[in-house]
Amino acid sequence: MNNQIYDVIHRRRDVRAQFTGAPIPDEVLHQILSAAHAAPSVGLSQPWDFIVVRDAAIREAFHEHVQYERAAFTATLETSAAQRFARIKVDGVLESTLSIVVTYDPDRGGPAVLGRHAIADTGLYSACLAIQNLWLAATAEHLGVGWVSFYREPFLADLLAIPAGVRPLAWLCLGPVTRIETAPDLERHGWQHRRPLQTVLHHDRW
Ligand SMILES: Cc1cc2nc3c(=O)[nH]c(=O)nc-3n(C[C@H](O)[C@H](O)[C@H](O)COP(=O)(O)O)c2cc1C
Repeated sequence: MNNQIYDVIHRRRDVRAQFTGAPIPDEVLHQILSAAHAAPSVGLSQPWDFIVVRDAAIREAFHEHVQYERAAFTATLETSAAQRFARIKVDGVLESTLSIVVTYDPDRGGPAVLGRHAIADTGLYSACLAIQNLWLAATAEHLGVGWVSFYREPFLADLLAIPAGVRPLAWLCLGPVTRIETAPDLERHGWQHRRPLQTVLHHDRW
């Protein structure tokens, strides 16, 4: 049995703090994007697009917006949670080499998307599978990925001139890292813990 896929799956982490900013070779970036684009999709709709963001001004504007949303989230927290959250970094927008914004176009592959008639969200599921492929491929290339969702969709759509109706699903920071941690940051900071498989496993009925 080839265990490499399991190794990559278990090594994958969300990275915020360890980006070096070193360059990513073009062929490596192409491999990672090709892996994302090879994801399964409902009705073979391939509803994703990838925006590679290198522009410093765009990244700074996004980072400022993330700080604003971070403050908005902090305002919803009790004092002790706010103190714990203050120690947690939620993005590496400025430190990572580049970012990839993944979008979802519900009109792609239409009007009759095979398999989506009863569950509209299957389109979104498909785009998320592309993100997971990207994340695993980057891990296999020993690069870090950090998913940033501290943003309002209209802000990011406007910042990147995303067409109306297309949703920005994820801002992914990408690049070489000093190391990849073995435990999730949120676990290391006592915010959340991973649940054992047995607690989410059911047989025959819930
Ligand atoms: C949909 C989604 C949104 C996320 N948004 C953020 C975010 O805004 N900032 C952040 O630091 N991590 C974000 N994460 C990363 C999660 O916190 C991380 O995946 C989780 O704590 C488990 O850690 P691991 O990915 O290292 O296993 C996000 C992950 C997902 C799947």
